[in-house]
Amino acid sequence: MPRKILVTNALPYANGDIHLGHLVGYIQADIWVRFQRMRGHSVHYVCADDTHGTPVMLRAEKEGLTPEQLIDRVHGEHLRDFTAFGVAFDNYHSTHSTENRFYAEDIYGKLRTGGLIDTRSIEQYYDPVKEMFLPDRFIKGECPKCGAADQYGDNCEACGAAYAPTELKNPYSAVSGAKPVLKTSEHYFFRLSDERAVAFLREWTRGTNAAGERRLQAEAANKMKEWLGEEGENTLSDWDISRDAPYFGFEIPGAPGKYFYVWLDAPIGYLASFRNLADKRAAAGETIAVEDYTDSARAAAAGTEMVHFIGKDILYFHALFWPAMLKFAGYATPSQLCVNGFLTVDGAKMSKSRGTFITAHSYIAQKLNPEWLRYYFAGKSNGTMEDVDLNLDDMIAKVNSDLVGKFVNIASRCAGFIGKRFDGRLGEFDASFELDYKLKWHSAFKTIVLAYEERDYGRALREIMHLADIANQYVNDHKPWELAKQEGQEARLHAVCSTALTMFRDLTCYLKPVLPALAFQVESFLAIPAMRWQEQWAPLPNGHAIQPYSHLMTRVERKQIDALLEANRESLAPAVTSAPVKEAKDAKVASSQQRHAEKQQHATQSAETAAAHISIDDFTKVELRIARIVNAEHVDGADKLIRLQLDIGETDDAGAPKPRQVFAGIKSAYDPASLVGRLTVMVANLAPRKMKFGMSEGMVLAASDPEGQTAGLFLLSPDAGATPGMRVK
Ligand code: MSP
Ligand code: ZN
Repeated sequence: MPRKILVTNALPYANGDIHLGHLVGYIQADIWVRFQRMRGHSVHYVCADDTHGTPVMLRAEKEGLTPEQLIDRVHGEHLRDFTAFGVAFDNYHSTHSTENRFYAEDIYGKLRTGGLIDTRSIEQYYDPVKEMFLPDRFIKGECPKCGAADQYGDNCEACGAAYAPTELKNPYSAVSGAKPVLKTSEHYFFRLSDERAVAFLREWTRGTNAAGERRLQAEAANKMKEWLGEEGENTLSDWDISRDAPYFGFEIPGAPGKYFYVWLDAPIGYLASFRNLADKRAAAGETIAVEDYTDSARAAAAGTEMVHFIGKDILYFHALFWPAMLKFAGYATPSQLCVNGFLTVDGAKMSKSRGTFITAHSYIAQKLNPEWLRYYFAGKSNGTMEDVDLNLDDMIAKVNSDLVGKFVNIASRCAGFIGKRFDGRLGEFDASFELDYKLKWHSAFKTIVLAYEERDYGRALREIMHLADIANQYVNDHKPWELAKQEGQEARLHAVCSTALTMFRDLTCYLKPVLPALAFQVESFLAIPAMRWQEQWAPLPNGHAIQPYSHLMTRVERKQIDALLEANRESLAPAVTSAPVKEAKDAKVASSQQRHAEKQQHATQSAETAAAHISIDDFTKVELRIARIVNAEHVDGADKLIRLQLDIGETDDAGAPKPRQVFAGIKSAYDPASLVGRLTVMVANLAPRKMKFGMSEGMVLAASDPEGQTAGLFLLSPDAGATPGMRVK
């Protein structure tokens, strides 16, 4: 019985570029979809942009666009990037769509009828200048714990403390800079604390789906157990699902000025994209029975499945809020969540300064082959929530040795003879190898299928490469290049090359979910129809005509990777475009679930973008002090240096002033006499350094153009009133 599966990928935010971290989950899902289809199952594969919320609204404003214009542009960019990496959705829609509004209103209406919507007044920070309520991520101030400046309203990046925005000292709005005021407003809540919801979620997260499989991976199920607590404990609180105008989103029916919170309508976007797909297909004369997937009773009867691929930072939203919303609105709940870990590059968080925060578009623009990355990511996927490391040297080695050295090599060593010596026609399969072929292929086949099914693509590829080794061994044993030179070995040469090409065909088929473009090239080279999954292989027939061989894949060169890193490297100068801000929770009394869910996402995601910045701790390590230049003189034998004596208020044991000696490379710009008496800034805790002319006990600060001396040197001076020894920070 063919399965009927609706597969979705998390909807990327419409305020940022697709990067290699995103691609982990999208490539994993795409491979699974291609595999299921090759097995003969019916799969609808949909995604969309997640367009609503404050960050999109403010970003559009900053770019001088309407939110609609911004999300239109980003939609095109996202789709372009996914397509380039072979991630082939049947439909790529938007949460800002009529279908999504319909489903959001329908689900909300049904929850309301079911007594699961409440309203309640809450107090939260409001920007009196911008006239809007502020999400946590748009409130900044001093950390209540460590005092670090410019921390977000939900947690401190310097000391890691978590708190409510109202605990910040000297808070200010990151939008206008104004001091926020507390203001009360009515919010709508989904009553997750209702005992029906709690009981349902306990069962749902622990249980199995209609096919008897676990809905969640083991690690995800454990996380849920933690979050849900023990039987009898009521650990869930209500979920705040409304935001006040101005907000880019859908207005809540019957509640003017109130909007659905972005995370309410985001997953509903899966259904919206699916409905939109069905409408497009209907226009082309094909029917997709949407309700067979979305309606709880009909889905059960039709035996359909709904499988969501998501990253680990958004598990909370998908394992608690989403199934509960669906369940109590009479919709079918997800059959399975497939959760992927986060990407690191060379063992570290992706970093803009190291160039490892790599956008999908830059990879394509640098002309790297997207299937190299697909292959590498597949090899690293094992079906768990573990993080995935992209080790660039390892990627080069893997692609070059497996794909070029083992796989493509089989065809490149045999195809030429078929063309030159046999008029492009294949011969008999080697009878002496038939038994080996059947046995080895048969036993590997089961492992490969199971591994793909479980998303343990790493295991599938190891097994496939093992078969490639067997095929290469076969070619090495029979040496077609030697047979070609021997008299009377024509038939043998023909059989050996044909047998190797049959094995090459099989390997291509097994690799096809991972390498669809390469497989397509092989299908046309071998002149065969698009390959399906085959339980029993028949050799390519005797007499079958193939096309001339042209090279299938080039090796990766380190210099290509270096160019990619260079293209993504951002200088340490303050970033012009900051990392996309994620939608955050607002309310002081928001549920702990929501707080937890969003914090988790921010923590995971800001970690990946923050690396180009230093923490306040890093900065405060540098002790800057106001210094008075009490003496300045030329240094005999030095072209660039001036010897400075700097008073920073330090004294010797007897209480006499004890200036520091510093050698400064400012001779080209200053006459020593002109410096005496003026104030400047020095680094006071630099390790003393022994120079040819004596000890240097610090450093003075001067501005210059990046090249050095051409535009001159400018010593810093404080404003009037500063005195020697004052700390600069
Ligand atoms: N808009 C939400 C999802 C809504 S789903 C109804 C969102 N968007 S996102 O753009 O931040 O992320 C999209 C997907 O990429 C998510 O599954 C997320 O977990 C995943 N990843 C984002 N950064 C990632 C890595 N560095 N590594 C692996 N996956 C990453 O979340
Ligand atoms: Zn702190």
